[in-house]
Amino acid sequence: MWRNTQVGWGVISIALHWLSASTIVGLFALGWWMTGLGYYDTWYNLGPWVHRSVGIVLFMATLARLVWRLTQPTPQGHGSRLEVLMAHLGHITLYVLLLFVMTTGYLISTADGGGISVFGWFEVPALVHGLPQQALIAGDLHWYSAWALMLLAVGHSLAALKHHLIDRHDTLLRMLKPTSR
Ligand code: HEM
Ligand code: HEM
Repeated sequence: MWRNTQVGWGVISIALHWLSASTIVGLFALGWWMTGLGYYDTWYNLGPWVHRSVGIVLFMATLARLVWRLTQPTPQGHGSRLEVLMAHLGHITLYVLLLFVMTTGYLISTADGGGISVFGWFEVPALVHGLPQQALIAGDLHWYSAWALMLLAVGHSLAALKHHLIDRHDTLLRMLKPTSR
């Protein structure tokens, strides 16, 4: 039930998938919204603080997710060999983009040498700072890679719906219901 098998996902993988997906969409919306706020808005500083804190927690969850993913069996893909290959490459790209978005977010935040306070619980030190135009370049990369991540996630969701509605595979259902074996 907790672990994955050759035919289905366990509770841990399912929980991490859906919690991450909703957090990513939330961070995208918050990031977009907060960068349009005026200086005197209450959320002008609070928004980025929440965005960075949630982003760091997501980063830690993603590292745990990758460790779990690499030490567990993975359910076999459905469809033609090409579809299975495309799905595999798509999933790897989602992980790579996710790590890239979070890294560039970190680089924007640490550009001036200050660490990142995570909900005031602990501080992540600024390991890289003072690179030429660090905040500006990391900011651009953050914005474009966040968009790429969202677009790929939309394609990924459509593929999941195609498996479910057209091919009648259990791909989506097994990401909702933990394997019983
Ligand atoms: C999947 C995770 C994330 C997504 C989808 C995301 C998305 C976004 C978006 C859409 C913006 C608006 C960009 C703009 O208008 O220029 C933004 C801004 C920002 N993000 Fe993220 N972000 C994520 C993670 C992080 C993390 C982990 C950090 C730092 C620890 C971070 C720090 C920032 C900062 C400081 C800004 C403000 C940039 C500015 O003022 O131009 N983000 N984010
Ligand atoms: C930001 C949004 C999302 C991201 C970043 C994301 C990311 C991922 C990743 C990386 C995997 C591969 C898991 C692995 O092999 O370790 C995966 C699997 C999966 N995702 Fe998503 N996902 C998102 C949203 C969604 C949505 C909205 C749906 C449904 C409509 C969905 C349905 C699935 C399904 C069914 C699988 C399992 C595929 C299989 O068993 O081969 N995902 N997702």
